[in-house]
Amino acid sequence: MSYFTFSNATQDQRRAFALDVHLGLSAPQKFIPSKYFYDENGSKLFQRITELPEYYLTGAEAEILKTYRESLAQYFASEPFALVEMGAGDGEKTKILLEHFLARGLDFHYAPIDISESALSELELSLSEQFPTLSFQACLAEYASGFSEIDNFSEARTVLLFLGSSIGNFSFPEIKLFLKTLWHGLNKGDFALIGFDLKKDIKTMQAAYDDKEGITKAFNLNLLHRINRELGGTFNTEKFYHHEIYNPKESAMESYLISLEAQEVYIDALKTTYRFAPYEAIFTERSYKFSDSSIRELAHETGFEIVETFKDSKQYFADSLWRVVK
Ligand SMILES: C[S@@+](CC[C@H](N)C(=O)[O-])C[C@H]1O[C@@H](n2cnc3c(N)ncnc32)[C@H](O)[C@@H]1O
Repeated sequence: MSYFTFSNATQDQRRAFALDVHLGLSAPQKFIPSKYFYDENGSKLFQRITELPEYYLTGAEAEILKTYRESLAQYFASEPFALVEMGAGDGEKTKILLEHFLARGLDFHYAPIDISESALSELELSLSEQFPTLSFQACLAEYASGFSEIDNFSEARTVLLFLGSSIGNFSFPEIKLFLKTLWHGLNKGDFALIGFDLKKDIKTMQAAYDDKEGITKAFNLNLLHRINRELGGTFNTEKFYHHEIYNPKESAMESYLISLEAQEVYIDALKTTYRFAPYEAIFTERSYKFSDSSIRELAHETGFEIVETFKDSKQYFADSLWRVVK
């Protein structure tokens, strides 16, 4: 593997996973942070989700990137830049931009960051095959630590990519904090292109997160399988129900795993037994849904100006291009 990572990353990740699982399953409202979806199995399941007809987010964002790739190229063409991507995953949509930027002869280096080792190594392989002239270096890390590591090396203008509406997995106050942290590491005139899933008809959103084939259900339950595999957990996944609901007060789709009965689960790595009451829920993911005004509020309160916001033909999704103001 040629991506860079930090020493003892695997051990540290395992320890952090165990600690977060303990904190989450000991809380009055049980939760597991959604970043733990993405082990090898979870990353593969997410790839299958992006191919589902119900999961409109991928198609809508791909349409935006295809339609506006030349407009984006014109914004970035004037000087060399580092294209830094948070949570690149399989990079399928990003390749729309990479291909176009290379064809246009833009001078750039691509730096995808992801916590999923399997997603990153597959991405590396496919980039080498599809774009032999592309300069790139993948980084196995959390968003913020990966970004600050890359930022230390890069003298060029930064163009930050955060696609797929992954930013919506944070709560609204967390998004502001996250964007402010990024802003501190960026220079005046740097860009950020951020994907925002927009508020829409609830049935459309509900179907996207609870598909007929049950892939989203398998993705959600994979969290429990992962605890069993990596931490010696004893979850019987048949005793948990995948529940998806739109919470209009929070403007978010919310994912839960609900215990079908009173049960006890032992996790060997934590030497602890966790008790579940009948119908007790584990909160597993938030997917915040944005409006034009919430996008404006985020940009203006975190030190960015909106350059242009691109939307798909159904107005389901927005990729908003921001510039750092300092
Ligand atoms: C919802 S997927 C989106 C993938 C891709 N950007 C897209 O739009 O299809 C989120 C990706 O971010 C990665 N990820 C999730 N939380 C992360 C974190 N805290 N730090 C770094 N990567 C993370 C996952 O491994 C996964 O590949």
